[in-house]
Amino acid sequence: MASRHPPRVYRSLAEHYDKIFSPLRHPLDLARKRLLEPLLGNVKSACDLGCGTAATALELARRGIRTFAVDLSPAMCRVAREKVRHAALPVQVLCADMRSFRLPEPVDLVLCECDALNHLPARADLARVARAVAQALAPGGWFYFDVNNARGFERYWTGEFWIEREGLAVAMHNGYDPVRRRAWSNVDLFVREGRLWRRLQERVEEVCWTGAEIREALKAAGFTAIRCHDAAPFFRGYPDFDRGCRSIYLARKQLRNSPAPSSASRSTKK
Ligand SMILES: C[S@@+](CC[C@H](N)C(=O)[O-])C[C@H]1O[C@@H](n2cnc3c(N)ncnc32)[C@H](O)[C@@H]1O
Repeated sequence: MASRHPPRVYRSLAEHYDKIFSPLRHPLDLARKRLLEPLLGNVKSACDLGCGTAATALELARRGIRTFAVDLSPAMCRVAREKVRHAALPVQVLCADMRSFRLPEPVDLVLCECDALNHLPARADLARVARAVAQALAPGGWFYFDVNNARGFERYWTGEFWIEREGLAVAMHNGYDPVRRRAWSNVDLFVREGRLWRRLQERVEEVCWTGAEIREALKAAGFTAIRCHDAAPFFRGYPDFDRGCRSIYLARKQLRNSPAPSSASRSTKK
């Protein structure tokens, strides 16, 4: 059964998220440009789901796309709103759960980047998100997202990671349970305040799916033309992100009155 529990969302990390995870922006931007560019000409409105600090929402708004940005974390929404205000771009930031969010109007594209989907509390929640996204999309609209796969969790969600940035040090104590297919990261964050360092803590948890489970959830929600791309070509120079670790999906909501999706929807191998 799908979980009704509120997911753990970013609190302490939100304010420092861009600084810590900025190296992931380049491959994510590259993938989006390569895989979505052919569609973007027809996209008038979009939603950045699990938007974090709204980096992608701002990028879309810069292109003249009417953009909504949705995140469950009030701290992330605060940072996102501040960036939107600073950029003076018309992005509407909504604090909502991706399992039940509603937009004021249907959009042509929903994106969910940087494994935001994996943050769901239970694997069964994917079906709820797929339905909510289908409801948010106009007929024929697109759903674009990336996910960490089991191989990725085995590679980069186990062991200790140490990240240093100006005025910031992060120790991530990661683990992955392959039986429950759940990963966790206990994060110690040290923020310099004058001559002292403040210690903050955060726990991030993720779940993972097989490609078949993802396709099943998408099809059940009315998506067709489901394509899956391995993310590795976009992560060249990131030794842990090799083939099979992370996948990028693009699926299309059925056009009104079109027949049910056939099992022969196009795919590339995960
Ligand atoms: C790893 S961050 C990715 C942020 C952004 N998409 C990016 O590309 O940088 C995951 C985001 O998903 C959000 N999130 C987690 N669970 C959520 C949920 N159930 N509904 C909406 N947002 C959620 C978190 O608060 C966090 O901002």
